[in-house]
Order: sequence, then C-alpha cells, then structure tokens
Amino acid sequence: MEDQEPEVNVSRDLEDLSEKTAEFVIRSVMDLLKRQERVSVALSGGATPIKLYQRLAIRSIQQGIPWNRVHLFWGDERCVPPDDPDSNYRMGYSTLISQVPIPKKNVYRMPGEKGPEAAAEEYEKTLRAFFGASEEWPRFDLALLGVGADGHAASLFPGSPALKEQKRWVVAPYVEKLKVHRLTLTPPVFNHAALVLFLISGREKAPIVRALLSSVPLQIFFPAQMIRPVQGRRLFFLDPSAASLLDRGGRG
Ligand code: 6PG
Repeated sequence: MEDQEPEVNVSRDLEDLSEKTAEFVIRSVMDLLKRQERVSVALSGGATPIKLYQRLAIRSIQQGIPWNRVHLFWGDERCVPPDDPDSNYRMGYSTLISQVPIPKKNVYRMPGEKGPEAAAEEYEKTLRAFFGASEEWPRFDLALLGVGADGHAASLFPGSPALKEQKRWVVAPYVEKLKVHRLTLTPPVFNHAALVLFLISGREKAPIVRALLSSVPLQIFFPAQMIRPVQGRRLFFLDPSAASLLDRGGRG
C-alpha cells in the first residue's frame, strides 16, 4: 500500500505544466546528485511529455545538469525500429537526448525492433546489469508516466496479463485494442520507484485523474491505479482540464 499521500500540482495550461514539471525534474535530479553518484530516470512515451522534454533540454543546459551522471530508460516502447514515427525512443531522442550532452552509453533504449519477447528479455538483462542482478526489483529514482483515456499507464492496458506480473521486470503483452505487442515495465517495477510522476493533460483524462486521486475505492478499476510506489512518492502534474473533476483539495 502506498505510504505517502499523492502530491498534486495544477498548472495554468500545457506550456506552464511543461515548464513547472521540467523545473521539478531538474531540482529533483540536482538534489539526488548531491547524495548519490548517478540518477536513473524512466521516460514516458506519448504526446504529453513532448513539451516537457523540450523544456528539460533547454533548462537543464542553463542550470548545468551533469548529464554524464544521468541515465535514461523507457517505461514502455512500441515494437518498432528506433527511427519509426511511433517509437517512444525517437520522440525522446528528437526532443531531449539530441539536445543535451548525455553520453550514448547512458541512454538505454528498448530494442523494439527485435520482436516482443526477445526485446523484453534483452531489456530486462540491461536493467539487471544496471540495477544489480540480485535485486528483486530495480529502484528508479524517477519514473515519468502518462495515462490514456482508458486508464492505461505505460503499456499496461485494461485486461492485460501484464497487470498480474509479479516476477519479470519487462514484458511484451499483446494489446488487443491496438492489435500489436508493446514493451512495458511491469507494475512492481514502477511501484519500487522512489518517485513516480504522472504528467496528464486534457479533459478526456479527467475521469482517470479523479479515480487515481479518489480517497474511496471505486467500482471501475484502471491499470494506472495499480501504480502506487510502496516506498516512494506519487506526484501529479496536471493541466486544468485533466484536473477539472477534482475537488478544491485536489482529491477525486
Ligand atoms: C505510450 C505511452 C502511453 C502514454 C499514454 C498517454 O507509449 O504511448 O507510454 O502510456 O503515456 O497513452 O499518451 P498521450 O500523452 O499521448 O495522451
């Protein structure tokens, strides 16, 4: 069970949301680097983080983030080559990675082009090499997540067998509604992160946000509700539309 109350930040609009989230990420990374050698961040895909990554690139240069001590991963990926328009890596590369002096070896791409199962197995090996093969679960310093209007997070979709995974760190479920396989970190991996940051924009996500921040159990269950860090923080950075069904206290 989550041990801390979720923290909710509502911005003026998507620009403000991206700016405020970029500032928060930079501050968090700088704080962490005062007490540890490196920082691990799992990036989200989708469209919402595009502006965030662009701001992050600009602000991180201005504020002197030592990118050689930052390690970037992905929370999920499509089973496509890195130059495919659908690739989450491609989006992260064009908006952030190509704009900052991060060493190539610090960027851990999910090899979507290798086919679902082979890619999942290879990425799990990559994570175990970084976090320690003897660890039961990796502990990301920061995991960025978006949510879909159906309540998915990363590529954890409603009804997916991945929702029940309790051993593997990376799986490649078939997503019925999309008729494709996806690569995704599993719920326990996200729930062992030190900080999970949901970045959510748009009115169509408001019912999901309300469910995620509801203090009472709801009948409908969304996969994103499974993401509750066991010893970590769950933060929400929302635009007004996504927050439109919350009460004044920022609760569902
Ligand atoms: C992906 C993402 C996915 C995304 C949500 C929200 O690979 O598409 O990881 O989980 O975060 O679908 O997407 P938007 O930000 O485009 O609404």
